[in-house]
Amino acid sequence: MLKMPKQIAKPLMFEVLSVLGVSNNVFNLAVSRTFEIDYDHDCFVKDGKPFRYISGSIHYSRVPRYYWKDRLLKMYMAGLDTIQMYVPWNFHESQPKIYDFSGDRDLEHFLQLANDTGLLVVLRAGPYICGEWDMGGLPAWLLRKKSIVLRSSDQDYLAAVDQWMGELLPRIKPFLYQNGGPIITVQKLTFFGRRLGCQYCFLRLLFSVISVHTFRQSSSKDESLQSGLDESLEKCYEALYFCLCFLIGGNVTAAFLTQRYAEPKGPLVNSEFYTGWLDHWGQAHSVVGKAIVAKSLNEILALGASVNMYMFEGGTNFGYWNGANTPYAPQPTSYDYDAPLSEAGDLTDKYFAIREIIKKHKKVPLGPVPPTTPKFAYGKVEMNKLGTLSEMLNKFSFTGPVKSVYPVNFVQLNQYFGFMLYRTKLPKDCSKPTPLSSPLNGVHDRAYVTVDGVPQGILERDKSLSINITGTTGAQLDLLLENMGRVTFGRYINDFKILECSVFINHTILNYFSAFPSKITSALLFNPLVWGGSSQTGHSFRSAHTSDLSEVCPLVSFVLGSFLAFSPFPPLPGDDFKMCEIYSQGQVWINGFNLGRYWPARGPQITLFVPEHILSTSVPNNITVLELQRSPCDFGPCAVEFVDKPILN
Ligand SMILES: *[C@@H]1O[C@H](CO)[C@@H](O)[C@H](O)[C@H]1NC(C)=O
Ligand SMILES: *[C@@H]1O[C@H](CO)[C@@H](O)[C@H](O)[C@H]1NC(C)=O
Ligand SMILES: *[C@@H]1O[C@H](CO)[C@@H](O)[C@H](O)[C@H]1NC(C)=O
Ligand SMILES: *[C@@H]1O[C@H](CO)[C@@H](O)[C@H](O)[C@H]1NC(C)=O
Ligand SMILES: *[C@@H]1O[C@H](CO)[C@@H](O)[C@H](O)[C@H]1NC(C)=O
Repeated sequence: MLKMPKQIAKPLMFEVLSVLGVSNNVFNLAVSRTFEIDYDHDCFVKDGKPFRYISGSIHYSRVPRYYWKDRLLKMYMAGLDTIQMYVPWNFHESQPKIYDFSGDRDLEHFLQLANDTGLLVVLRAGPYICGEWDMGGLPAWLLRKKSIVLRSSDQDYLAAVDQWMGELLPRIKPFLYQNGGPIITVQKLTFFGRRLGCQYCFLRLLFSVISVHTFRQSSSKDESLQSGLDESLEKCYEALYFCLCFLIGGNVTAAFLTQRYAEPKGPLVNSEFYTGWLDHWGQAHSVVGKAIVAKSLNEILALGASVNMYMFEGGTNFGYWNGANTPYAPQPTSYDYDAPLSEAGDLTDKYFAIREIIKKHKKVPLGPVPPTTPKFAYGKVEMNKLGTLSEMLNKFSFTGPVKSVYPVNFVQLNQYFGFMLYRTKLPKDCSKPTPLSSPLNGVHDRAYVTVDGVPQGILERDKSLSINITGTTGAQLDLLLENMGRVTFGRYINDFKILECSVFINHTILNYFSAFPSKITSALLFNPLVWGGSSQTGHSFRSAHTSDLSEVCPLVSFVLGSFLAFSPFPPLPGDDFKMCEIYSQGQVWINGFNLGRYWPARGPQITLFVPEHILSTSVPNNITVLELQRSPCDFGPCAVEFVDKPILN
């Protein structure tokens, strides 16, 4: 169980780049839209009037666009006037200079919806965000330069940041408060390699002068932006205030006194008031009681402080987007966070407790809160085994094997996520069980090992550095390497996905590898016929191991199934579903949409969230499961089950 830091964190400095109007006299009753910091009165000033914000975090990258409006409206109805959000760089620039701001990545649409809903925005523009997001939001392609020093003055790093900011900032500009939009502050977070007191928070909060420098550089690419921001940049240095993160249940007054000690003037802000906590695979689901959250929130608001609740709506790490902490511990697919709105956007008791507290301090909007969306349990869907991954390799390896003496890494082959197969030959006879080991912990992150197609075991970073294998000289040794999510901060952030530092068979180093990069693309998954097999014909089931279900044996394989969705609640188009996995570990797609990783064998998360908008009501929906260890499909008929309640613990 990850422990929350015990002491109250040192107050942490960050800059707020207030994007303000021109007025210096904050109390002139300007009609123009302004947002300022008044140091004499220790408060924010919005349109000439003292202002404090009550905010909640939501990450658009963790909620499908289809639900944005619903979630924002629920936040507004709780009494929030502001949201805090990140812009994850790697979500938008997946290859250098190739940008995606469409669909679920439509940042401008999200900002517009926030404004339409009546919410202000505190924007954390990156380039680095942390946030339990793959590589803290930095694109993995930065690692193409092996020696790059991320989040430093490394020239290549800065050039990439400038390029990105030159793309991002002009999109943000129309949404700045003084331009008629919702964004009251833009926070930039870049440099900080060193550990400070509160390791989780500081990464989210620290902003540096150098980041302003890069901001200026990038804005110089756009003259109009430059002139518009110059004034704000001046203020940037002025508008330096201290921010606080402290733990639920701590002494709120004492925490703010510490903030005052570090920064005698300026508004009191707690920009990371935790409503819950993050999870890791293999640890219990974090839960924070609503009473303690309500009590602390009440104390914060009573002091007149501004607050942001992290998270208000956690959402989902779909696909491969989860991050990891060190010693290596990846985050699960659900980012529920035990937040007041659940992963599926459901209203919780905590939501109503928070609304009651806010009510004591300001008017909350009247009218009904949008109801929790109905869920529908489709029940069991029959699945059929299609074949093992190595049998299917030619279908999804987008280039032929790349041969090298030492293993190449993912980035060298322009593959950033998912799986890569490394193949070599056993250099010696291993007819007795012989150790296959990675003594320097170089398997990043898990390797599923087979010899001539026979499963041998799993090597795992920081967990399992040696297994015994058997096979004869020259037998085909396959290591299927899985990227389980890049480390989000600290000294291991240059997280190359690779078999690193050599793998040995009883003291003999392994080399001469063929690497098969893979892209399990939507095109393949949308229509199982493309696989060249029919999911209906099934496959010969393995009879071995039937009795020993507790044994972990990697039989990496694909299973397919399809089902007809229908509209359970006419005239609604259908709704959320959960899928219950009785499998061990792997990845699931429905109609090509990557729902994320499932790993009930390790927990705590058992079900995956299935957003309804990915389902078709007119043609059969196709489910593809890549099972990495052992599924019931290896032994006979099998199914996946859709249920209407999440199981996260
Ligand atoms: C944002 O909302 C305000 C009203 O709250 C409105 O005056 C303004 O025009 C809106 N801006 C945009 C960009 O829609
Ligand atoms: C909280 O801290 C303040 C200031 O240090 C102190 O006066 C107060 O007694 C503390 N409250 C509790 C319940 O410990
Ligand atoms: C491993 O190597 C040692 C000597 O280096 C040898 O004594 C031992 O028998 C080997 N083990 C196996 C299983 O081959
Ligand atoms: C490998 O086999 C040896 C000898 O049979 C045994 O001592 C050792 O514990 C085994 N190692 C693992 C990781 O199973
Ligand atoms: C699922 O696959 C079938 C072919 O087996 C195809 O006809 C159908 O359109 C696919 N479903 C979706 C939603 O793409």
